[in-house]
Amino acid sequence: MNQPPEIERILFTEEQVSQRIGEVAAEISEKFRGRDLKLIGVLKGSVFFLTALARAISTPVKIDFLAISSFGGAPGMVRIAKDLDEPIEDQDVLLVEDIVDTGFTTRYLLQTLAGRGPRSLAICTLLDRTVRRIVQVPVAFRCFEIPDRFVVGCGLDYKQLYRNLGYVAVMNPSYLNQAPLNPEKA
Ligand code: IMP
Ligand code: MG
Repeated sequence: MNQPPEIERILFTEEQVSQRIGEVAAEISEKFRGRDLKLIGVLKGSVFFLTALARAISTPVKIDFLAISSFGGAPGMVRIAKDLDEPIEDQDVLLVEDIVDTGFTTRYLLQTLAGRGPRSLAICTLLDRTVRRIVQVPVAFRCFEIPDRFVVGCGLDYKQLYRNLGYVAVMNPSYLNQAPLNPEKA
């Protein structure tokens, strides 16, 4: 496999990711059978996961996106930078995340969306790192639990790179906090 030197090891291969997404999509399809479901993605990290998940869900889905940006420098200090296009009132809503880490971002989004009167609201995440959780959030659907290491791929970035990797991988620590190297020259 063509693996850049910034990657230390692959946690989940592309095949494992797509198989697991299929399993979770089946759980979601079963849970929401007979109802329309709105998937809400958080730009940009959850885009890759959301599109794969949406294709594997058999119940009718709508999709919408929001973007957040951090301010203040403290964890969890986030605000909505781009809001949803449509209201979510009286709809079954699934918030689709790339990773739930400390839980601050997810809690903020959950509270914000809950205030808009959805019929139901649940969280689905590709990755869950419960060892770093600071605030508790109810994760209804998760593909993988991961160890306390910085990961990239399947939408997750380091300095906006590596989102397009089909696998989930641990970053080589010697590359973190440095300008990402050009693999051609490394
Ligand atoms: P929180 O700590 O749960 O609020 O996580 C917020 C955000 O941090 C996630 O949505 C990701 O964008 C980012 N993040 C957390 N851990 C990782 C990682 O291992 N790789 C890439 N991004 C991460
Ligand atoms: Mg990020």
